Amino acid sequence: MHTQHFSHGTPGHSVFEISPIGLGTWAWGDKMVWSYGTGYADDDIRDAYLISVHAGVTFIDTAEVYGWGASERFIGKFIKETGNECIIATKFMPFPWRITKKSLRRALKRSLKRLQTSHVDLYQIHWPFPPVPARVWMDAMADVVEDGLVKAVGVSNYSKEQMLRAYDQLAKRNIPLASNQVEYSLMMREPEKTRLLDTCHRLGITPIAYSPLAMGMLTGKYSVSNRPSGLRNRRYGKNKLKKIEKLVGLLREIGNKHGGKSPAQVALNWTMCKGTVPIPGAKNAKQAEQNAGALGWKLTEDEIEILDQTSGW
Ligand SMILES: NC(=O)c1ccc[n+]([C@@H]2O[C@H](COP(=O)([O-])OP(=O)(O)OC[C@H]3O[C@@H](n4cnc5c(N)ncnc54)[C@H](OP(=O)(O)O)[C@@H]3O)[C@@H](O)[C@H]2O)c1
Repeated sequence: MHTQHFSHGTPGHSVFEISPIGLGTWAWGDKMVWSYGTGYADDDIRDAYLISVHAGVTFIDTAEVYGWGASERFIGKFIKETGNECIIATKFMPFPWRITKKSLRRALKRSLKRLQTSHVDLYQIHWPFPPVPARVWMDAMADVVEDGLVKAVGVSNYSKEQMLRAYDQLAKRNIPLASNQVEYSLMMREPEKTRLLDTCHRLGITPIAYSPLAMGMLTGKYSVSNRPSGLRNRRYGKNKLKKIEKLVGLLREIGNKHGGKSPAQVALNWTMCKGTVPIPGAKNAKQAEQNAGALGWKLTEDEIEILDQTSGW
């Protein structure tokens, strides 16, 4: 598995590297979807961070809206305490009341404060929401790159067409589009069908795969008889879970051929084999350790083929 190179927005387009797997931190401080404070708390999150970084997972994804700033605050604190060198990606949410370029700079400054840093490595537009066209946000991004507050520019949840428009707009300022973060897993194969992945690979845009474990469903811990709660309960109903159980059985079988790799590790390895950088969320040491175990080995072509055929309904 190769280290991913990121195009960098400085003159000459130098590059920096990110680990082939990242750490997702939506759950860090989020009560609404992930029930932060129930079943996991600050110490678990700290352990997840420490174990990940120790295992070489140093690319950390967050957003201003995760836990309403709590996720960024955790990361800032951990990096300050440990002095670890991490690559930080955060996101700007284009809320409908944010209508000027200045609002991006203001939000970024607040993120930098929570992260206790002078710049972020990757700044992403979280969603392609109206009313402000991406053209304006790309211009605002180019400004903050030129001011040294951001190293590389990314988008998230952009379709192929939206991504190409962002790419062209940034090119006018001689800045590459570094990444597009989209939902991608054995349960969500749209980015292949729409040729978004191919386009990313052709243009040197790194596809970052979010929810690569289908919000935990591909770990094998949830089933028809042990359903998740909240949002995940609504998203993954009985029928989907039945199909997932079958898929998890196959993941387990394949994992056994690789010395007992878990379903989660096989599912993550598959996303890397497809040329994406997965950013699984981890709430505690055990999850972080297991997810990092997706590194250092590779599925065979035959195994990828059979997973392709069994998934993606
Ligand atoms: N750009 C966007 O719009 C967007 C949207 C969603 C996510 N993201 C990013 O992508 C990251 C990952 O996505 P995600 O958190 O939605 O889903 P995910 O990575 O597919 O699943 C994460 C959840 O699965 C469970 N889990 C993780 N590793 C496990 C393991 N080894 N064994 C057992 N259970 C495990 C945990 O929840 P339980 O323990 O509760 O089961 C964990 O919170 C987020 O943290 C965020 O950084 C971005």
